Amino acid sequence: MEQRTLGKTGLQVPVVGMGTWRTFDVRGAAAEKNARMVVDTALAVGSNFFDSSPMYGEAERVLGEALQGRRNLAIVATKVWTSELDEAQRQVQYALEIFDNYIDLYQIHNLVNWRENLALLERLRDAGQVKAIGATHYASAYFPDLRRVMETGRITAIQIPYNPLQREVEREILPLAQDLDLGVVVMRPFAQGELMRHKPSERDLEPLRRFGVTTWGQALLKWVLSDPRCHVAIPATSRAERIKENAAAGEPPWFGPEERAYVARLARA
Ligand SMILES: NC(=O)c1ccc[n+]([C@@H]2O[C@H](COP(=O)([O-])OP(=O)(O)OC[C@H]3O[C@@H](n4cnc5c(N)ncnc54)[C@H](OP(=O)(O)O)[C@@H]3O)[C@@H](O)[C@H]2O)c1
Repeated sequence: MEQRTLGKTGLQVPVVGMGTWRTFDVRGAAAEKNARMVVDTALAVGSNFFDSSPMYGEAERVLGEALQGRRNLAIVATKVWTSELDEAQRQVQYALEIFDNYIDLYQIHNLVNWRENLALLERLRDAGQVKAIGATHYASAYFPDLRRVMETGRITAIQIPYNPLQREVEREILPLAQDLDLGVVVMRPFAQGELMRHKPSERDLEPLRRFGVTTWGQALLKWVLSDPRCHVAIPATSRAERIKENAAAGEPPWFGPEERAYVARLARA
């Protein structure tokens, strides 16, 4: 799996990591065993960047338990998501407990109460409990706000949506991230599964085979990762076999402009 430096955070990340929204918000022995299998597979194939949030119900707990005894093998990105300072402190305490007192990338989820939450995360970073601080937003209407936070110089990474149906980040966010040398984590590479509803045929994928692409999911991940401003894509899946499939997209050769345009056309078809 190709590794990239997550901008100024200095973290070395695999280009394909994993999200946990919905897929890890589970309870009960069978579902939690399955989540552990997903994590086992991710670690085995080098997809060791995991993104979570207190917004995702049980996800932080389930991920933390799946990483028990091997937290050091993982790069953990999670988030603070509240406008109440007390609650923010509670979220942080909980995450630190679950992830062995260390968070690699702590993000302000959807910019909620960003000034206070940023100050809180800076204190944790200065105390050595957090390596890097980032900010996320899923909605392009908030990109002007995200830009302002990027321009403070106080964060070193962002998390944004990017796929052939959602390209708004190309206008200002990705160029600014590049200028500021910020790490870029890509959420929703499959548009929350929307892009999986109508998969192109085997024949449509034929021109992409020489890039190592055998499935539509791999074509979409390569589309994202062929933009060198993107460092790690975090598709979510509840199926261990798809972790392998997605991870296989994390190797060169990367697409050029023609292949990217071709995949974008397939996505709109
Ligand atoms: N504001 C924020 O900070 C924010 C917002 C949204 C998302 N995120 C993060 O980004 C992560 C990813 O976004 P997302 O979960 O919304 O959407 P996504 O990764 O674009 O799509 C997830 C869906 O794709 C399916 N899938 C995964 N691999 C597949 C494959 N190879 N072939 C076919 N289907 C596949 C999964 O279903 P199966 O389970 O059946 O495989 C799941 O339903 C989240 O989990 C979360 O960590 C952050």
